[in-house]
Amino acid sequence: MDAIRQLLREARSIAVLTGAGVSAESGVPTFRGADGLWKQYRALDLATPEAFERDPKLVWEWYDWRRSLISKARPNSAHLALAELERQSRHFTLITQNVDDLHDDAGSRNILKVHGSIWIVRCTECGRERTDRRVPLPELPPKCDCGGLLRPGVVWFGESLPAGIWEKAEEAAHDAAVFLVIGTSAVVYPSAGLVQTSRRGGAKVIEINVETTPVSGTVDECLLGSAAELLPRLMA
Ligand code: OAD
Repeated sequence: MDAIRQLLREARSIAVLTGAGVSAESGVPTFRGADGLWKQYRALDLATPEAFERDPKLVWEWYDWRRSLISKARPNSAHLALAELERQSRHFTLITQNVDDLHDDAGSRNILKVHGSIWIVRCTECGRERTDRRVPLPELPPKCDCGGLLRPGVVWFGESLPAGIWEKAEEAAHDAAVFLVIGTSAVVYPSAGLVQTSRRGGAKVIEINVETTPVSGTVDECLLGSAAELLPRLMA
């Protein structure tokens, strides 16, 4: 722990990749694992462009339910510790796969949301995007002012990641002296590939997770435990 603390204090640049495990202790369900959403629901029915085309109302009902869960969640000590780490660092980039915006709520600033945000709605006709935090949404599926169907501003399976954001994420991972991988099962690509990108760039890679993952064998340190418990200790 002491060695990692020192590494973080002295690092010329830090990049962090977070996943659903960071928000688990805020009460936001993860996707995989015993209580994961993908145990109860089929990703193919809810999180693909084809599913949305087939049944936009069903897809929106699921997102509306998740928006309602997330609206009650508050950042936990893992989110807060990462915001503090950013304040103390020279160059800091937070890359998150989470769509809940809890990193923003905790005070993180330089955030790359590679899977979008659940609070953004985007028109499938005119392409316009806006934030809509209403819970529940008054009409499902919601419509744009132009009459087009709105979709959640998230990335679905089979879709590319937002181009400008993804390039910045790759650059931050490659340029990082220290790369933290926190609360992600590291099975969803291309995001999981950032771990290798950071290694190729020469970063020290530290993983924090309650269990080992496919990347655990490739990292410099694997800290087993909850992010909300371990991250504040690394900042102490
Ligand atoms: P997963 O649900 O796949 O993985 C969550 C990870 O967090 C697991 O490895 C858990 O062991 C770990 N975990 C759980 N509680 C934790 C805690 N308190 N502290 C630390 N770790 C904990 O979530 P992601 O890796 O984020 O994509 O999933 C990646 C993507 O797959 C998501 O962004 C989503 C999903 O399908 C899309 O919807 C496109």
